[in-house]
Amino acid sequence: MSGPNTSYDPVEVAALDPAAVEAAAAAALAAAQAASTLDELKAARGAHQGDKSPLALANREIRALPPSAKAEAGKRVGQARGRVAQAFAARQAELEAERDERILVDEAVDVTLPAGRRPLGRRHPIELMSQRIADLFIGMGWEIAEGPEIEAEWFNFDALNFDIDHPARQMQDTFYVDPPEDGLVLRTHTSPVQARTLLERGVPVYVAAIGRVFRTDELDATHMPAFHQVEGLAVDEGITMAHLKGTLDRLAAELFGAGITTRLRPSYFPFTEPSAEMDLRCFVCRGEDPECRTCKGMGWIEWGGCGMVNRNVLTACGVDPDRYTGFAFGMGVDRALMFRTGVSDMRDMIEGDVRFDAQFGMEI
Ligand code: DAH
Repeated sequence: MSGPNTSYDPVEVAALDPAAVEAAAAAALAAAQAASTLDELKAARGAHQGDKSPLALANREIRALPPSAKAEAGKRVGQARGRVAQAFAARQAELEAERDERILVDEAVDVTLPAGRRPLGRRHPIELMSQRIADLFIGMGWEIAEGPEIEAEWFNFDALNFDIDHPARQMQDTFYVDPPEDGLVLRTHTSPVQARTLLERGVPVYVAAIGRVFRTDELDATHMPAFHQVEGLAVDEGITMAHLKGTLDRLAAELFGAGITTRLRPSYFPFTEPSAEMDLRCFVCRGEDPECRTCKGMGWIEWGGCGMVNRNVLTACGVDPDRYTGFAFGMGVDRALMFRTGVSDMRDMIEGDVRFDAQFGMEI
């Protein structure tokens, strides 16, 4: 076993030379300071503190020194490495603080910016109004009935006691479906549901039918070739016109508010006797402005027709008119929406602009 090499002169080991150690430390400190990002600092740390860095190599050389020289060289290298480690730690802390600061700015959320809201589709106001009406009748214990939009002429006219030469049958009012010998029309009102209901369900019966109807009207601010009606039919023993008035007043109050004033005005429909039209007190002038454009100075706005079911209709549908009486009505749903919302041009209702639906489709 050979003893320690006492003749070893540390000064001759280049890596342990004080100037070399100092230069390596200075280079490491400069590199730490020069690093402007955490990645750069990591690279500099590898070069100046890593296993192959000059100071690590110098450190390794110490082991080979004679004991007498180890302490002094160890102190020199140790202090240099300590300063370098401190400098890297300090720079690391600085760069991390800078990074955190930057993240706070870059990733800050401006809570005052408008949200990226995606507009949802809406139910059409007519649909909502129809549901509201249906709910009211269901709440009163009525049933909801439906009928086809392409209807047999017999249901649309004959069963309802229309004379063969009634003007509503003429081509200018009714859409006839080809071929004419099939006897089909686009229903001109929801009243054929009355006849269907009486035949299908028998009596007593309380039904409301809400749906689309068609007439050969030009599209303008107050007319549409396709529009909506709510039909009502109540047939039972002892039904009187007072029941009709009470039911329509309830419907009007539901749709236009409890303060609404209504009136029945004598009229004529082939399928009711007596017949009436229901008018609403003008919403705009309340009957006080002879120049009012909404009611044309009349003070009243027409809403729909009604009456006591004609005996001929009951008979045609197999109901005994001596035992049963009934009332019926047919009101405009689109008109109700106009009155309710102040929409003055019906064309807005059918254009399918979602902004209209969003504005008038809101039910409170
Ligand atoms: N069907 C009629 C129309 O469209 C309205 C109507 C009047 C319906 C009287 C009825 C009624 O049920 O009894 O003009």
